Amino acid sequence: MRLRDRIVVVTGGGQGMGMAYARRFLEEGAGVVIAEIDAERGANAVAELRGLGDVSLAQVDISDEGSTRECAARIVEERGRKLTDADGRNELIEASERLTPMGIAAFQPEDMTGTAVYFASDDARYVTGQLIVIDGGMVSPT
Ligand SMILES: NC(=O)c1ccc[n+]([C@@H]2O[C@H](COP(=O)([O-])OP(=O)(O)OC[C@H]3O[C@@H](n4cnc5c(N)ncnc54)[C@H](O)[C@@H]3O)[C@@H](O)[C@H]2O)c1
Repeated sequence: MRLRDRIVVVTGGGQGMGMAYARRFLEEGAGVVIAEIDAERGANAVAELRGLGDVSLAQVDISDEGSTRECAARIVEERGRKLTDADGRNELIEASERLTPMGIAAFQPEDMTGTAVYFASDDARYVTGQLIVIDGGMVSPT
């Protein structure tokens, strides 16, 4: 439970990569806000993840600055705690058995979520502005 005091906003958390990040952050003890454009999809995700901990939905269109600002303000007001950006969208992976030196046939979202947990934790409290490539060794095979 490394992230007991954190609130993590997962954009696009209604399915796919984002939902995997939401699941992992809940397992680490964080509160999670699923910030999702599709309200029905987001509600379904919240229902599926509810048993894991403190998860809620915020409807937002992150391509719209006004919507994003309004959503962030609403979350801060409702949660009143530090927000940690856990946007899985910033991750870029092309994994295949042919291309990945580590021989990972096809990456799973769970291969990537641990790095986001690290950035959100106190273990990274002195770390700023870093970019970690999570690619099974494609860029740096040795
Ligand atoms: N799936 C992969 O293998 C993979 C691998 C690496 C990186 N990525 C990247 O991760 C991101 C998510 O991938 P995915 O496969 O989970 O996608 P997905 O389409 O399954 O899920 C995206 C989610 O984001 C929501 N969404 C879309 N536009 C939004 C908006 N404007 N505001 C708020 N929510 C919005 C969608 O409703 C959906 O729930 C993408 O940028 C993708 O390029 C995906």
